[in-house]
Amino acid sequence: MKVLAPVPPMGWNSWNSFGWNISEELIKTTADLFVESGLKDAGYEYIVIDDCWSEKKRDADGRLVPDHTKFPNGMKDVADYVHSKGLKFGMYSCAGTHTCAGYPGSFEHEYIDAQTFAEWGVDYLKYDYCYKSIAAEGANLYRRMSMALRSCGRDILFSACNWGSDNVLSWIRSSGAQMFRSTGDIQDKWSSIKNIALSQLNNQPYGGPYCHNDMDMLVVGMHGNSDNAEVVDGDKGGCSDVEYKTHFALWAIMNSPLIIGCDIRRMSDNTKEVLMNKDIIAINQDTECRGPYCIKQWNNPDNVFALIKPLSDGDYAIGMFNLSDNRSEMSLQFYDIGLPATAGRALRLYDCYSHSEDGVYEDRYATYIEPHDCKMFRARVVKL
Ligand code: GLA
Repeated sequence: MKVLAPVPPMGWNSWNSFGWNISEELIKTTADLFVESGLKDAGYEYIVIDDCWSEKKRDADGRLVPDHTKFPNGMKDVADYVHSKGLKFGMYSCAGTHTCAGYPGSFEHEYIDAQTFAEWGVDYLKYDYCYKSIAAEGANLYRRMSMALRSCGRDILFSACNWGSDNVLSWIRSSGAQMFRSTGDIQDKWSSIKNIALSQLNNQPYGGPYCHNDMDMLVVGMHGNSDNAEVVDGDKGGCSDVEYKTHFALWAIMNSPLIIGCDIRRMSDNTKEVLMNKDIIAINQDTECRGPYCIKQWNNPDNVFALIKPLSDGDYAIGMFNLSDNRSEMSLQFYDIGLPATAGRALRLYDCYSHSEDGVYEDRYATYIEPHDCKMFRARVVKL
């Protein structure tokens, strides 16, 4: 078996923008656009079909059946197409009797379903938590599907999605899963982005190579254009370009998988710039996958903070975030991150948005950050 997910997986998932409204054509077009738009070259690899892809009943042999109208040529055909573009193919099922949208779940069909996914050429399985039997222990159900996948004869990345419940942090790594959802569903709203990010600041020690903390799919570029009423709860939502920039920076430095959720047929130039910022992606994809620690701004500790992440080439990623609604000071004292004034050293900062050197700073870096905005640097310790 190949070792999967040494660093956070990158890809696209149908749920945020399309919900039930998915089809063979949508998935194939998305695969084409992955290549044409540069997403593939930027590192995005998995194209994942979420819920609502199957018929409501299994066949006479107990196998899952793709929806005949949405996927008239079956899933192997879609997988082959995705693979022909040099990409990987993901699908979705659920640990319960039914998926969240009411299609058949894999409960007590784990091995036959893993076999079916392997035969279709699936490379990634997202595994949800709706309609889970109260008689079954959640951790055991994830161990079960993990074992079914690990023994099915194909390398299939296991993306667990139990929304952070049942103390998932304590057992998910040992289940064999490569990533795990740690929160409820994201919405295309600033408040949702902010709440998810804040809720995961203390969970950074739990992710790492081969098992990553998934803060849910990105809403970057959605701009309230979801077809998926379930996700947005009647409110179409939408964020500003600055908010999408900050959302992406938070997910990147907090080592979340980067799974795009917008309609990539409609990406604006700004959306492309955010999603394909190579300096930010490099911070997320760093080999060591060290979760950052947090230094809070003394006069606004709930909303303004820096995240510091050691990188494998000796640099440090430093993200500075203002999640408040007012312009705010952010001052990082270097002694707080391990560099006292007496060290005879300074930090050389490279700006990940202008893609150029910002300067060499001694003792501290102090700045103002606009509401909902951020800065991201790659820092290197230099001798004075
Ligand atoms: C749950 C998951 C979502 C999505 C839907 C599909 O809510 O958390 O990410 O997969 O189910 O019904």
